[in-house]
Amino acid sequence: MSGDVSMDAIVSLCKRRGFVFQSSEIYGGTGSCWDYGPLGVELKNNVKRAWWRDNVHLRPDLVGLDASILMHASVWKASGHVDHFSDPMVDCKACQRRFRADAPDEIPWTHYCPATKGNRFEIPPGEPCRHCGARRTLCPACGKGELTAPRQFNLMFKTFMGPVEDEAAVTYLRPETAQGIFVNFDNVLQAMRLKLPFGIAQIGKAFRNEITPGNFIFRTREFEQMEIEFFVNPLDTLDGRPADEVWHERWIQERFAWYGRYGIRPEHLRLRTHEKGELAHYAKGTSDVEYRFPIGWSELEGIANRTDFDLKQHARWSGRSLTYYDEERKTHVVPYVIEPSAGADRSVLAFLVDAYREEEVRGEKRVLLRFHRDLAPVKVAVLPLLKKRPEIVRVAGEIRGRLARRWVATYDDTAAIGRLYRRQDEVGTPFCVTVDVQTVGDADKGEAGDGKVTIRERDSMEQIRVPIAALETVFAELFDGAAWSGVAGRYPAARP
Ligand code: GAP
Repeated sequence: MSGDVSMDAIVSLCKRRGFVFQSSEIYGGTGSCWDYGPLGVELKNNVKRAWWRDNVHLRPDLVGLDASILMHASVWKASGHVDHFSDPMVDCKACQRRFRADAPDEIPWTHYCPATKGNRFEIPPGEPCRHCGARRTLCPACGKGELTAPRQFNLMFKTFMGPVEDEAAVTYLRPETAQGIFVNFDNVLQAMRLKLPFGIAQIGKAFRNEITPGNFIFRTREFEQMEIEFFVNPLDTLDGRPADEVWHERWIQERFAWYGRYGIRPEHLRLRTHEKGELAHYAKGTSDVEYRFPIGWSELEGIANRTDFDLKQHARWSGRSLTYYDEERKTHVVPYVIEPSAGADRSVLAFLVDAYREEEVRGEKRVLLRFHRDLAPVKVAVLPLLKKRPEIVRVAGEIRGRLARRWVATYDDTAAIGRLYRRQDEVGTPFCVTVDVQTVGDADKGEAGDGKVTIRERDSMEQIRVPIAALETVFAELFDGAAWSGVAGRYPAARP
């Protein structure tokens, strides 16, 4: 199987191999929160690190920020979230369950089909009944109740700041990281002496009381965003066009290319421009990077032109000036904002789904995650060929210890070598190092070891024989992006 994998297969692999667990599972779990296990936290950190490095460290025009999750309640009035951040919700008149009215096609539905004497069918999201052609008009859960007319439900999590639970103490868990950037615009501008255009980037948790969370880590109530607010002088033009529009296009292209750079297959990515009617209240234009998830094409990241809406609103509500002094034109301007806003969890899901492969090797199924080397949770697994030989175990342990100073390296001796390789393939470890009898020799027979180990590459399964002393140089090259074939060509092949 080259590409298509079901969500069930991903969820099962994630649990079995320690990527993602259901939150509070021993209490029956929550449908909307997930915990990242030992490999998941490495993968997610690698995704965030790659994003931060490429945007904050490699670009000369971006700086970082880490704002607090709890903010002044006025922030959310100024931003429009108190009035506008809601989804239409419907209730089932029979079972009283609640659903997002604008997303019925994302939910599988139960149907009692009149064409088959009322037989019950579970019908996939968005599909009609194959027997009577009906589309979902009744409750997707119980299949019996009619749905109420839609009403608006605010998605923000309300809470109280301090010990008194009254109206004056009400605030919200932030539903997006963006506002922390807007309210710090002037602080960052002054402290860092920046010139337009420049961006401020932030990675952090956001909370939304989603009516219908689901599809694993695709839509949850607590999630992480990776957001950039890129400020542009509204008086500037580039090639005769308003600079904000040119920068919007540049960011759309840049963000689209980013996913490909980390291994997502081009045929699984597309851009979708929002229709006027679906634009958020602050946006002049938005394009989504969409990924072909197992649930179908869905948003991975949105890139919006937020104009000067947010800075103007915060200036109005706070009474503070949030402008930029254009020295050339001798005037104050309110910058326009281009906002590439990605979900860290959704990105993790896309990278997992896209990396998943099933192959047949010598008549056996091999499951592997073909992660980009920068994203792989474990970079090198050091494996002893025989765990009963203390010398092999000692040398393998020493190699792991040395490599672990620079890369995430693991040691495993809990199965035969073939099985150990399969396990590492399944979690996407790009390289295995095997220590064997030839490496250490056999003191009883008076045979000296050659001090060489086998490196096996995950995707090709090719193996080469490399001196222990050269391991760090070889891995430095490989993790710096060198092609396997180039490095492997310098060393003799080892027998698989
Ligand atoms: N500041 C703009 C903003 O928040 P958004 O389209 O609502 O825009 C941006 O969210 C990204 O955050 C989405 O593209 C998605 O990747 C992620 N995201 C939004 N809601 C989410 C949820 N409930 N669960 C997981 N990720 C979510």
